[in-house]
Formats: sequence, C-alpha cells, structure tokens
Amino acid sequence: MKNKKRILSGVQPTGDLHLGNWLGAIKNWVDLQYEHETFLCVVDLHAITAKYDSKKLAKDTLSTAALYLACGINPDKCSIFIQSQIPAHTELCWILNCITPMNWMERMIQFKEKSIQQGNNVSIGLFNYPILMAADILLYDADLVPVGEDQKQHLELARNIAQQRVNAEFGKGEPILKVPEAIIMKNGSKIMSLNDGLKKMSKSDPNEGSRINLLDDADTITKKIKRAKSDSKVGIEFNNSQRPESRNLLMIYSILNNKDIKDLEIEFENTGWGTFKKLMIEQVIESLLPIQERYKVLIDDRHELNKILLKGRENAEKVANKTLHRVKSHLGFY
Ligand code: TYM
Repeated sequence: MKNKKRILSGVQPTGDLHLGNWLGAIKNWVDLQYEHETFLCVVDLHAITAKYDSKKLAKDTLSTAALYLACGINPDKCSIFIQSQIPAHTELCWILNCITPMNWMERMIQFKEKSIQQGNNVSIGLFNYPILMAADILLYDADLVPVGEDQKQHLELARNIAQQRVNAEFGKGEPILKVPEAIIMKNGSKIMSLNDGLKKMSKSDPNEGSRINLLDDADTITKKIKRAKSDSKVGIEFNNSQRPESRNLLMIYSILNNKDIKDLEIEFENTGWGTFKKLMIEQVIESLLPIQERYKVLIDDRHELNKILLKGRENAEKVANKTLHRVKSHLGFY
C-alpha cells in the first residue's frame, strides 16, 4: 500500500452527472484505482458556491456517490467520502486563504466565466472555490489528481500554493505539503456541448439538450443526439477545425466504442450525419445501460451506501487530520 501513489479527485453533486464528467474524470479513476491508493470525494461544499436547492443537496450527494460506484469504482479499493463531513477541508481552506495572494485568484478563468453566467449573484464562495479545491487535494498528500482539461489551472494554483506559499515560506528546507500533479487524459478530457462544438459540456448550461446525463433514458438520449448540432458536409472528420461538432461526436463515439479515431475516420469517410447519429444513439444507450442498471440497485440500498461512505470517511479523516496538524504546527499555531 505504501509504495502506491496516492490519488485524490472529486465531482460536485450539482444536478446530474454527464458524459463529460464520466469520460473526462470518473473513467480515468476506474482505470487507475487498482494501481493507486485512491480517495474520491463528493465535493458538496463546492456545490453550494452557486445558487442551489437545499432540498436536493443531500439526495444529489448520495446519488453522485452511487454513480461513482455504478461507473465501476470499487469500494474495497477506494475511499469514497463526502467533503463536508471532514471539517479539515474547510479549516485548511481558511489557512490557505490567508496565505494566497489575491492576484493569483483574480486570474482564475473558471471564476470569470461562471461569474458572467451568474450576474449579480456571485458569492465569495465562488471566488474562493479553487482554494477549497487546493485544500481537498493537499490534505491527502495526493501525488496525482485525475481531472478534465478545465481543471488544469486550478491544479496549477494548488501546486503553487503548496510549493511557494507553504513549503518555501514555512518549510525550513523540508517540504510540508506534497506538490500534486494533474493527470489529464489525451481523449475525453474536454467533451463539448451537443449544441456548440466550441463550448464545454457543462452541468450549468441552462439548455438540457446540450449534454447527455448518465441517467438519461433511451428516449431522451435519442432526442438529444437527433437534435445535436451538425453541418451540411458528408463524412465524419476529426481534424477539421471548421467542424468542431463532428470532432466532438467522433471523439465520444471512439471512447465509448473503444476504436481508434483514425480507423473511425476511414470508416465514416462517406457516412452522412443521419446514419452516424443513429450509430451514435445506439452506442451511447448501450454504454450507459450497465451504469444505469447498477445505479438503480445501489441507490435503493441506502444501508450499503452509508456503510461505504462511513468507511471512506474514516479512512479519509485519518489522513486529512494528520496533514492539517502538520501544517498548523509548521505555521506556528499553538
Ligand atoms: P465538476 O463537478 O465541475 O467536474 C468534475 C470532473 O469532471 C470534469 N469535467 C469534464 N471533463 C471533460 N469534459 C467536460 N465537458 C467536463 N466537464 C467536467 C472536470 O474536469 C472534473 O474533473 N472543481 C472540480 C471538483 C473538485 C475537485 C477537487 C477535483 C473539487 N475539489 C479536488 C479534483 C480534486 C470540478 O470541476 O468539478
């Protein structure tokens, strides 16, 4: 166990998880879990940084944990836990708030994008979000953080905080915090919207049709893919920058089908959108079906889910509290 590298990652329980969350992050966790010591949290404190429904938070939190399992996370190999149940996350976040320069935070692209979406309702929490994420990661001395492309800048921030603001200033030559590395998959790390191949698939897009949720039924998947943006050309290409929608759907198809993109480009050289979309619909339904079937069983077994989350919490808490104690003692607390 000791020689295994440690992984930490998480997803926000904000509504339904979509294909981007699965192909960009969770699928990678599933592949990595047997060779690594893996901590996976449901980041519910991040989910309240934007307007949210308090009646749905607990349900969505549990549903996200069940989806981790349904996607293939093995609870005997990984610790799955709920972020808000471990107070060390918010405590380390506060400490890191106080040593992180404001101008580092002002560069955060995701904050800028999300605050435009949220207009006058932007919370301090949304601005602070990347520091809480740094705390999540640094508490576990994570070596590796498997995330989608959009989290690259947040990972860089976590690295800079650990290296420059904690280790360099308080470490007296000895590292206090491990400096983590992002693992971003070559394919799947940036799944785009079904309506616009230049825009990321996102839970916060007000248009439901822009994403395929992991729990969408066959009818919904069919409708969404039929309505997905296409173009007037024949043939499904990957490398034509004028055809981002073709690139995106081919990428998704290739991951789900486990076929090389180059081979698919040849196969679909003369295929029209109608035929390709039909194949795409069949593939997405077939790939999501086993996840949905496992999910149905898991979400009804509250006892088993709670047992898994309790075990995860106990494992996580031990590691997190130890790191927090180490940080506090180096930073001069009594
Ligand atoms: P969230 O919930 O927005 O996204 C969860 C994961 O899904 C990835 N992702 C995507 N990947 C490919 N294509 C997309 N369209 C797409 N949309 C989302 C994200 O990159 C992410 O890996 N801030 C994090 C949650 C977090 C976290 C952490 C992650 C909080 N603390 C600590 C890792 C480690 C987030 O974006 O969640």
